[in-house]
Amino acid sequence: MTAERAASHVETEETVTLTIDKTGETHQLRVLSGTTGPSAIDVRDLYAQTGMFTYDPGFTSTASCDSSLTYIDGDAGILRHRGYAIEDLAEHSDFMEVCYLLLNGDLPNAKQKAKFEHTITNHTMVHEQLMYLFRGFRRDAHPMSILVGVTGALSAFYHDSTDISDAHQRMVASHRLIAKMPTIAALAYKYSIGQPFVYPRNDLNFAENFLHMTFSVPAEEYRLLPEVSRAMDRIFILHADHEQNASTSTVRLAGSSGANPFACIAAGISSLWGPAHGGANEAVLNMLGEIGSKDRIPEFIARAKDKDDPFRLMGFGHRVYKNYDPRATVLRKSCDEVLAALGVGDEPLLDLAMELEKTALADPYFVERKLFPNVDFYSGILLKAMGFPTSMFTVLFALARTVGWVAQWKEMVEDPKQRIGRPRQLYVGPDERKFVPMAGRR
Ligand code: SDX
Repeated sequence: MTAERAASHVETEETVTLTIDKTGETHQLRVLSGTTGPSAIDVRDLYAQTGMFTYDPGFTSTASCDSSLTYIDGDAGILRHRGYAIEDLAEHSDFMEVCYLLLNGDLPNAKQKAKFEHTITNHTMVHEQLMYLFRGFRRDAHPMSILVGVTGALSAFYHDSTDISDAHQRMVASHRLIAKMPTIAALAYKYSIGQPFVYPRNDLNFAENFLHMTFSVPAEEYRLLPEVSRAMDRIFILHADHEQNASTSTVRLAGSSGANPFACIAAGISSLWGPAHGGANEAVLNMLGEIGSKDRIPEFIARAKDKDDPFRLMGFGHRVYKNYDPRATVLRKSCDEVLAALGVGDEPLLDLAMELEKTALADPYFVERKLFPNVDFYSGILLKAMGFPTSMFTVLFALARTVGWVAQWKEMVEDPKQRIGRPRQLYVGPDERKFVPMAGRR
């Protein structure tokens, strides 16, 4: 299947009947089915038929689109990309293959993979003028603020891939964004620590290239550890796409107006930055630092349960997963491998995180609400062990999620049902009232 032939839902003969008690009116609403997972009640004509809206502020019960990219079963803790289980992809595939899979619909054969990797590799450099953009930021600017700004500015440099009606330009823009995000992320890091920028190298694979641009210095040879490169690649795979999460929905909504892909991805990065979303990995490390020792865990568990305390257990809970986030399980395993490869014996943060997880999962508050560790709970410990500062954690999430964002954006643009996204509201403001001239105001 190619991405151009977007998959679509099945319009079943099944209907649901809506009865409006006040008037006795009944309305038949069609049931739409996908490949697997919950069906959907088609409410597209509800307002025209009834004069009423549906109400779902957090979109807990709303399907915003058809998509064939990613399937999540939150109760079973299942995550699949184009039908392939995340555990299999993390274990047996690599990030370039997952990028190809998300963009094109199938895993690449050897020839397709080689061509795709060559394409991405040859897009990793950024326009030299872009380097001057970084100098406009303060050195202590958060790398996410730099990533948002520079990504949005890409449309000023790559005009020849902003016409979203052109399939070729859509694919070129997608390749450019996937390829250049690691370069921009590494540049943001180098700028923040006052070290010279390091250019991409075409003899390194995607993960190795990013590590080299981030950690190498002109003064000496940078030693790439295979276990670390493999762990980096696996972290990218685990963060690649995740259905219609907040940042992906932001990208889709921005793209629905016809905005260029660079601007849409910049919007996605902004949404990901929030601590309730991609900013949680940085927040987890800050939280573990604040807890400090195992004997303070009960105090923080009590705070997380206290409705009067805004503190939440970062890295815990998920809108969809009401079971273990399968990505957390893979990351937890990678922690042991990478820490051993780096010769980091006893990692106090990992011990503390494991004790916190054990205590929380023995507490009825978390069990009743099905609050399990999510992808952010262990990722930060791994990234810290690999040498990244906490301020770079969400940048790495954005780097990996770029492929998911562009694949979802392409799918939306190529969906013939696609229209500009324009939700309505339940108006609760003042009813009509007369204008009051200044003299009449109290
Ligand atoms: C990501 O959507 C995705 O797919 C996102 C993501 C992706 O790959 O794109 O998976 C990445 O964003 C993972 C989530 C990272 N965020 C965090 O770890 C921040 C901490 N988690 C929470 O803020 C929260 O769990 C959310 C935001 C993740 C989910 O929030 P929901 O679905 O709106 O759930 P809720 O706030 O309605 O919580 C239900 C109940 C509430 O208690 P009651 O009102 O029922 O008494 O659970 C409680 C909440 O107070 N609760 C928590 C909690 N998370 C939920 N209580 C303490 N600590 C927590 N972490």
